[in-house]
Amino acid sequence: MFYLLLTASILFIISFSSGHFWSLISSFQSTCTDPQLQRHLNIQRWCSTYKRDMNITNWDLRPSYFMIVDDRHKVIYCMIPKVACTTFQKLMARSLTNDTINLTRIHFVGFINSLGMRFLDKYSKKDRELRLQTYFKFTVVRHPFDRLLSAYADKFANPGRNMMSVAHLQKRAEMRFGNFTRFDEKGKPLLSLNQFLELVSRDREFHDKHWQSYHDLCQPCAMNYDHVIRLETIDNDIGPVLEHLNYTRPETGDKQENSRRNVSNKLVEVNYHFRRLNPGIMNGLLQIYARDFQLFGYSWSYAAGAGCVNRTGNGMCC
Ligand SMILES: *[C@@H]1O[C@H](CO)[C@@H](O)[C@H](O)[C@H]1NC(C)=O
Ligand SMILES: *[C@@H]1O[C@H](CO)[C@@H](O)[C@H](O)[C@H]1NC(C)=O
Ligand SMILES: *[C@@H]1O[C@H](CO)[C@@H](O)[C@H](O)[C@H]1NC(C)=O
Ligand SMILES: *[C@@H]1O[C@H](CO)[C@@H](O)[C@H](O)[C@H]1NC(C)=O
Ligand SMILES: *[C@@H]1O[C@H](CO)[C@@H](O)[C@H](O)[C@H]1NC(C)=O
Ligand SMILES: *[C@@H]1O[C@H](CO)[C@@H](O)[C@H](O)[C@H]1NC(C)=O
Ligand SMILES: *[C@@H]1O[C@H](CO)[C@@H](O)[C@H](O)[C@H]1NC(C)=O
Repeated sequence: MFYLLLTASILFIISFSSGHFWSLISSFQSTCTDPQLQRHLNIQRWCSTYKRDMNITNWDLRPSYFMIVDDRHKVIYCMIPKVACTTFQKLMARSLTNDTINLTRIHFVGFINSLGMRFLDKYSKKDRELRLQTYFKFTVVRHPFDRLLSAYADKFANPGRNMMSVAHLQKRAEMRFGNFTRFDEKGKPLLSLNQFLELVSRDREFHDKHWQSYHDLCQPCAMNYDHVIRLETIDNDIGPVLEHLNYTRPETGDKQENSRRNVSNKLVEVNYHFRRLNPGIMNGLLQIYARDFQLFGYSWSYAAGAGCVNRTGNGMCC
């Protein structure tokens, strides 16, 4: 395990310090390619390099309850918490019924099953493999640090009804930072963003699906996704998913929320918070999320993360 980690960090340091990895990406960009194809090639390339360097013989899939299957439309979606996953679950639900459906219980397994969706880990190995080979598989990602900001906001800065679920995390916080008041007088948990990031980067027990890496949650090397949506460019990217879901009705509700996301504001926010971060914490975070940055072509500075979208106006990236 230690060696694995060590190698991972070395690989990581090499690829970042020499700019090797990023030059790979830009070499893809130097010829005109479809952004989706570029993403696909990038993931394949990353997986084969990583497989070789880590002596991995096979990418065995660990099917999970993050992978949701729609047998009617032959679609598999890997949900990443804090990356529009409720929006996409709802979209899938609507595509199986109609827009009048009451989606209050969208997070309940029974409700999801009642609509004809199941989780991949509930199928036999044989049925799973059949689906993995023939279905349209997609996932949705966003800049990993933007996701961390969002997770912090939800869990700590503005937890609302989720307050109980942070108890375990607060305990870890107390162990690291000593005896401080857990909640302010209004019952809001007190943990600064820097403390949160320090815990994420240094404490393995401070673990939660809302900041678990994309690589672990959705296993892109084993899944070989047909389509990857970036939240930053969702309007450009969502088309094929709607097609496969046979969803032709105009977008409602949640979609509008996503369009309101302003990428340049996000850029400012991520840079503002992460540039001033203690270098030790920053290194820790970069190591934890190195695979996600590399797999999905993000750079820690948000600007590059937005990537090339339809730069030429003809749908190509040059
Ligand atoms: C992979 O195998 C080679 C040759 O057996 C070895 O030198 C190297 O340390 C291994 N790497 C890892 C990450 O185990
Ligand atoms: C919409 O779907 C629900 C649940 O499947 C069904 O009860 C209802 O009749 C449908 N409404 C329309 C207008 O099709
Ligand atoms: C939706 O369902 C929930 C309970 O499942 C219920 O409380 C709520 O009133 C329903 N909303 C509508 C608009 O029917
Ligand atoms: C933590 O501090 C509060 C007051 O600041 C005190 O009442 C409490 O006993 C302390 N707890 C521990 C475990 O030291
Ligand atoms: C797609 O939706 C249309 C109506 O909206 C329906 O007629 C058609 O059968 C659907 N196709 C599939 C494959 O579900
Ligand atoms: C996004 O925010 C920037 C800076 O606040 C602003 O200049 C720009 O007009 C906004 N774009 C949209 C589409 O709202
Ligand atoms: C690319 O941009 C052009 C012009 O703005 C637009 O007409 C076209 O639909 C876009 N293509 C894609 C794939 O987004």
